[in-house]
Amino acid sequence: MSDPSDPHCSATDPVLAAAASQVRAAVADPGLRPVVRSFFDEETFTATHVVHDPATKKAAVIDSVLNYEASSGRAKHGSAQMVVDYVRESGLEVEWQLETHAHADHLSAAPWLQDRIGGKLAIGADIIRVQEVFGKIFNAGTEFARDGSQFDHLFHDGDTFGVGNIPAIALHVPGHTPADMAFVIGDAAFIGDTLFMPDYGTARADFPGGDARALFRSIRRLLLLPDETRLFLCHDYKAPGRDAFAWETTVGAERAQNVHVHDGVDEDDFVAMRSARDKTLSLPTLIMPSVQVNMRGGHMPEPEDNGVSYIKVPVNKL
Ligand SMILES: [Fe+2]
Repeated sequence: MSDPSDPHCSATDPVLAAAASQVRAAVADPGLRPVVRSFFDEETFTATHVVHDPATKKAAVIDSVLNYEASSGRAKHGSAQMVVDYVRESGLEVEWQLETHAHADHLSAAPWLQDRIGGKLAIGADIIRVQEVFGKIFNAGTEFARDGSQFDHLFHDGDTFGVGNIPAIALHVPGHTPADMAFVIGDAAFIGDTLFMPDYGTARADFPGGDARALFRSIRRLLLLPDETRLFLCHDYKAPGRDAFAWETTVGAERAQNVHVHDGVDEDDFVAMRSARDKTLSLPTLIMPSVQVNMRGGHMPEPEDNGVSYIKVPVNKL
């Protein structure tokens, strides 16, 4: 396993080397470490993170959740309201609404949150590939733009940004979807659907556009960050024997203990395991509404001529 501080790794993956050096700087200087408050939605097993710079109170919201009941087609805002309340009570100024990817298991609350607390909506630039695939599957028509224009900003691998005075860098980590991003902010990495808690393993790679081999390489790349890097996950499902939900771990813990990809696990073995396991998984309950809404940046499909938005279900397709 190479070390990102060695010149070989820096030469072959300068983006990862820059992320690692940003983490090391934050480990050495508490002023570069963001505060993270997480909100866990037990209906969809999703963690929404609000990360902020304590010096400037500038903040980013990552992977927000809109509560949605599939049987009634009704959206509610209890989970998102908790984020609004926290942001207002803490006096935070939201600069970003970040999505690690177009989620298939919950609807994003980003547009609803933008209306209340602001922030630029951003996602990985390869969202256009996801829009292409799902635009076809849902026969979304020409009015559905497949150019990422529903978002305010599209991140590429290695793009740098900031949350207040805390430096941040975006990493492209495809596999779960082609467009997944991880956002490394100070010493905290928000890694979306790549790794889960060490006792649970890794994200699935069988959705349209998913790729278990790409997922393995993305994960091994993340695991080249320093051991102390704080990792914040998108989901937790409680591993057998664990009673409480958990969504924070470290690179060191994942390398030592992750049941699917601890140090020493070989790529081919991972791909065989991941592919076999994915065959046993059913599709998420909310995949139909989630994908149609999230590919539109969290907006419902255009209302029809009666003023009502509809969610489609393609028969015998997924
Ligand atoms: Fe996901």
